[in-house]
Amino acid sequence: MNYRHLGRSGLKVSELSLGSWVTYGNQVDTRAARELMAAAFDAGVNFFDNAEIYAKGDSEIIMGKVLKELGWSRIRYVVSTKFYWGMRTGVNDNNTLNRKYLLDAIDGSLKRFQLDYVDVVYCHRADPTTPIEETVWAMHDIIQRGKALYWGTSEWTADEIRAAWDIADRRNLHKPITEQPQYNLLHRKRVEQEYKRLYTDIGLGLTTWSPLASGLLSGKYRSGVPAGSRGAVESYAFLRESLTDPAKNAIVGKLESVANDLGCSLAQLSLAWCVRNPHVSTVITGATRVGQIEENMKALEVVPKLTSEVMARIDAIVGTAAA
Ligand SMILES: NC(=O)c1ccc[n+]([C@@H]2O[C@H](COP(=O)([O-])OP(=O)(O)OC[C@H]3O[C@@H](n4cnc5c(N)ncnc54)[C@H](OP(=O)(O)O)[C@@H]3O)[C@@H](O)[C@H]2O)c1
Repeated sequence: MNYRHLGRSGLKVSELSLGSWVTYGNQVDTRAARELMAAAFDAGVNFFDNAEIYAKGDSEIIMGKVLKELGWSRIRYVVSTKFYWGMRTGVNDNNTLNRKYLLDAIDGSLKRFQLDYVDVVYCHRADPTTPIEETVWAMHDIIQRGKALYWGTSEWTADEIRAAWDIADRRNLHKPITEQPQYNLLHRKRVEQEYKRLYTDIGLGLTTWSPLASGLLSGKYRSGVPAGSRGAVESYAFLRESLTDPAKNAIVGKLESVANDLGCSLAQLSLAWCVRNPHVSTVITGATRVGQIEENMKALEVVPKLTSEVMARIDAIVGTAAA
């Protein structure tokens, strides 16, 4: 495993990390989560991603229990959570980044995790109805109170990130160090084009999500939805249309010849392609079984095989203009 700085911060994260979206609390119980996290940690993963909204708090509870059971020293792992959608339906506690919600939300998360602090706390989406200055102050205060060490954003526009960073810079507050955007072979524009200036200007780090487009890029949806896969989870049925999209699966089919020539699986090719981007600090993977973790971690062996010729071949298949 290699480690990269998370943006301009001194914190180092593993090139591949592990998240809990959809899986924990829906497909994976505490016992299975423990096996998955232990396998990832043994492979060198030090970053575990979560969010308040995942399984409505149960994902944090499961991860917290696992961390306690595994008993790793707190200095050896990085854990994150994210806030925006909220857990309740009151006027001030959902779909917001107001100060009242954020300062309440962090306490709820820490309780569910049974932790004294999280390492990175994210604003899970932007909130155009709350002044960015209020949100920046709240994130700064969460850190000042010792409840988180760093903060970042998720799926904010480049302008919103820059505005938050400028406010923090002007007022000597803790700055956002990282963004958490979707990034994969079928979804690349924001990371490669919109954020371009931010890497040099403010040293933005990236913890990227859905590197396999929820499993589509493993190739397993080419002939329908396999039983036991994410595509078969009823409460996430909205993902099914994209997972079984004929045009996307045709692209995946074409990528198979590239994977075959490199002697790797489609999933490994797709993950390695994300890791190869030097602006990506860590690629957050997802898994429902230990075999997937084992396969996915070996993607790091494929990264050096992605020469400029291979990358051009991939671009010719997936295109650079889409999503
Ligand atoms: N900030 C945000 O808004 C946001 C949004 C989404 C995700 N995230 C974060 O990013 C993390 C990763 O996202 P993701 O789970 O969507 O990642 P992903 O890599 O696109 O999808 C992971 C899923 O693909 C399947 N899979 C994994 N490895 C496989 C393999 N080798 N072969 C076949 N199938 C395989 C598994 O599902 P099945 O076995 O069930 O098919 C696994 O749960 C999340 O856990 C979360 O922490 C953040």
